[in-house]
Amino acid sequence: MHGDIIRGHTENIILSILKDKPMYGYEILEEIVNKTNHELELKKITLYKTLERMVKNELIEQFMKNDTKTNGGNRKYYQITIKGLQSLKESVVNWSDTKKIINHLISDLEYLSIGENTIYFDEVTSTNDIAKEMAKEKVSDGTVIVANSQIKGRGRLQREWIDESGKNLIMSIILYPRKPLHTASIITQVAAASVSDAIKDFGMDSKIKWPNDVLVGGKKISGVLVETAIENNQIEYVIVGIGMNVNMDISNKPIKTIASSFFNELGNEFSIELVKNKLIEKFNYYYNEFLKGNDIAVQVCRENSHIIGKDVIINMNNTDYKVKVIDIADDGKLIIEDENGNIEFFSLNEISLHKNY
Ligand code: BTN
Repeated sequence: MHGDIIRGHTENIILSILKDKPMYGYEILEEIVNKTNHELELKKITLYKTLERMVKNELIEQFMKNDTKTNGGNRKYYQITIKGLQSLKESVVNWSDTKKIINHLISDLEYLSIGENTIYFDEVTSTNDIAKEMAKEKVSDGTVIVANSQIKGRGRLQREWIDESGKNLIMSIILYPRKPLHTASIITQVAAASVSDAIKDFGMDSKIKWPNDVLVGGKKISGVLVETAIENNQIEYVIVGIGMNVNMDISNKPIKTIASSFFNELGNEFSIELVKNKLIEKFNYYYNEFLKGNDIAVQVCRENSHIIGKDVIINMNNTDYKVKVIDIADDGKLIIEDENGNIEFFSLNEISLHKNY
C-alpha cells in the first residue's frame, strides 16, 4: 500500500527525520510557533496540511494536538505516531532537534500545493483566458480554474478544443515558477506526464505524443496547452490548460477515428471531480520535482513516448520533413535525425508533428 503512494517532498523530509530517529514521539510545534517569524508561520500551515495528508495516505497513523504538564507549566505539542513502529516511547524533542526539523522545512519553502485554491465556473470562453486574467491580478500560485463547459476552448496551433457541457474535465492551473525562461517548456512535459499517470491509474494504457497529446489505443484522450507570459526575459506566469475527455461519447462523432474518452475506453462514466483530483495529485508531484530541478516528468514522457524510435513527418515553417525521432532532451526538446543523418533539437514552438502520428 505504502509503495503505491507518491510522496511529496515535505512528506519525504518528515518521514526521513522520523525514520532516522524513531524515538521521536512528539514534536513541540508550539515551541516552533513561539520562536518563529511570520514566514515560518506560513510554513507551519504547510506542515499541518502535510501531516494531515500523510495520515490520509496512511504514512503516519495519527497526528494529534495535546497538552502536557511540565515543570515549566502547560505545554502544547503535536503527537505523531509512525506506522509500523511497535512502541513509541514518549520523548520530547529538544530545541536543537526541533531546529533541524525547521531547517528542513525552510529548505522546502518551494513546495507548492496545487489546487488548494480551486475556482469553479459554469460556462467560460476558455479556462486559459480566465486563468490569464486572474494571473494578472496575482491570484495565488497553484490556483486551479475548472469549468463545466467552454465556448471557445482552444488547443495548440490555433486548433479548436471540442467538448460537451458537463462531460469532460476542463481546467487551467496558474503558476509563477521562479525558474529560468528556457526551462518553461518542461512544464508541458510535467503536465503530459501527470495526465498520462492519472489515466494509467484509471486502468488505461496511455502514451504521450510529444509535446502535449496523451493517447489511449492510439487515439487522443487528453491535450495540454501551456501558455507563458514573459516580462524582461523572465517568466511572469504560466497557464497550464488541460482538457480530458471523460464522459463524452465520441463513437458517434466525426472525430471518432482520432479521439477517445474514458467512457469510450472503459464503458462507464466517471466523476469528473475524481479525475481532476487524481490529475492534481500527479501534477503536484511532478511540478514540485521540476521546481527542485529534477527532470522526472521528462523521463516519464520518454518512457511512455508514442513517437520515440519512429519515422514521422514534422512541419517547420510550412515545410514538411521526414525525420526519425531519437529522444526527448532534458529540457523538453525533441531530438530528431534528419534524412542526411544530422541530429537536431527542436522546441515545441519550432515544429509540429503531422497529425497522422
Ligand atoms: C491541444 O490538444 O492542442 C491542447 C488542448 C487543451 C485544451 C484545454 S481545455 C482547458 C484549457 N482551456 C482551453 O481553451 N484549452 C485548454
